[in-house]
Amino acid sequence: MSQNNAQNVPIDVTARENLAAQGLTYRAVGEEDLADYLRAKQRGFLGPEPTNEAIDAERNLLDRCRAVAVYDETAAQPYPVATARSWETSMTIPGGQTPMWAITSVTVAATHRRRGIARNMLEGELRAAQGAGYALAGLTVTEATIYGRYGFGPAASVQSYSIDTRRAGWGHTDPAARILFVDREQLARDLADLHEGTRADRIGDTDVWEGHWWDAAGLEPDAEKPRDIRGARAVDVDGTLVGAMAFSIGDGPDHSSHVLRVIHLVAATADARAALWRFALSYDLVGTVTAELQPLDEPLPWLVADRRAIRRTVRDHGWIRILDVPEALARRPLAGPVGVRLEVTDPLGLAGGAWTLLQLGGQGLQVAPLSDGESAQVTIDIGALSAAYLGDVRLEELAAAGRVTGESAKIRELSEALRTDRAAHLSFWY
Ligand SMILES: CC(C)(COP(=O)(O)OP(=O)(O)OC[C@H]1O[C@@H](n2cnc3c(N)ncnc32)[C@H](O)[C@@H]1OP(=O)(O)O)[C@@H](O)C(=O)NCCC(=O)NCCS
Repeated sequence: MSQNNAQNVPIDVTARENLAAQGLTYRAVGEEDLADYLRAKQRGFLGPEPTNEAIDAERNLLDRCRAVAVYDETAAQPYPVATARSWETSMTIPGGQTPMWAITSVTVAATHRRRGIARNMLEGELRAAQGAGYALAGLTVTEATIYGRYGFGPAASVQSYSIDTRRAGWGHTDPAARILFVDREQLARDLADLHEGTRADRIGDTDVWEGHWWDAAGLEPDAEKPRDIRGARAVDVDGTLVGAMAFSIGDGPDHSSHVLRVIHLVAATADARAALWRFALSYDLVGTVTAELQPLDEPLPWLVADRRAIRRTVRDHGWIRILDVPEALARRPLAGPVGVRLEVTDPLGLAGGAWTLLQLGGQGLQVAPLSDGESAQVTIDIGALSAAYLGDVRLEELAAAGRVTGESAKIRELSEALRTDRAAHLSFWY
């Protein structure tokens, strides 16, 4: 499966027919429709009308993505009443990289909500991705209540921080990295280079289109308060780039207590990470540092003198959906040996089935359909298996919530087999 082929993935016929029965047209967005598509997408996410300049900056969207939209020909304006966009991304999973069908920009106009348009689009996207051979689909979500019904599970969580800098102090040695300011163009390049250089080490992260970093650095035409964004880079003793941070500083309760917001922080070494945090926490006239999308194994509490100065909120972030169970399991190493008869239920009828998973010492995983008369030892729904796929969510926890049933010893065996050494993390929104 090569990249840039999203345009070749056809529109799902069932979804098109279901929506046609409601008098709606579901089709791919072409160059000529792109401006109206972008306006509808912005409206769907409660954003302002995009400027012509911002629309022009997104003209290359269809080079890599497939945008779909739903049109109501009776509408007063030509804007679509629903939007979605998808493309092939490369996600880091245990043992390497795998292609994933990424979905974003799912919106339905307030005039057309709750009549099944999103359901048809989502089910259509999943069938289309499966038909094109993808074993996984993924997305990030505005609300945690929307996508479980389509078989997605929260597989990579994040935490946000609010840090009282004066209480936090510093409890670590001097990091062996220097911090330097950079302009926003250099910041965008540094963020892009470092993300690409580090994402293979982080299960759950994916590749990113270049424009994302221009956006993070405030260089997109419609960026909010772009001139507030500052850039800092960390270099090691040889002057090599090892970390970067986009941040902005806003008003706080008084002039000596501004709020420094970390927009994005990426580091290739532990010293770079520590140096960037120390730089943020010791900024003059700043009383609070905030940061979102931080990994669950972020070492910050161990770097400061008083960990209670850090308020943390954990939240779901990277959601994935397995579309082909044998293929998805075979792509990631399991800690063996494993011998489990597994049944996967799927309310959409896409990826359910029952298999024997067998991995003997030193050999790869073999997945074979259950024979007649064999019964499953572990039963799990597709959303729960998707949540556990990256190794962060334990099956015992899902069993306690009734999402996994079966023999306790086999649940534990499979849970151990899926486990990984490091927290999964998705470092950005898409
Ligand atoms: C979320 C959104 C796309 C749903 O569109 P919609 O066409 O109204 O949804 P549907 O009518 O197809 O509803 C499908 C199912 O999702 C449920 N649902 C829809 N919106 C929901 C929401 N915001 N929270 C929880 N459930 C929701 C419906 O109740 C329905 O459930 P059921 O089929 O299991 O009975 C739409 O409300 C929207 O555009 N919201 C703002 C943008 C946004 O948040 N998009 C999601 C991006 S990640």
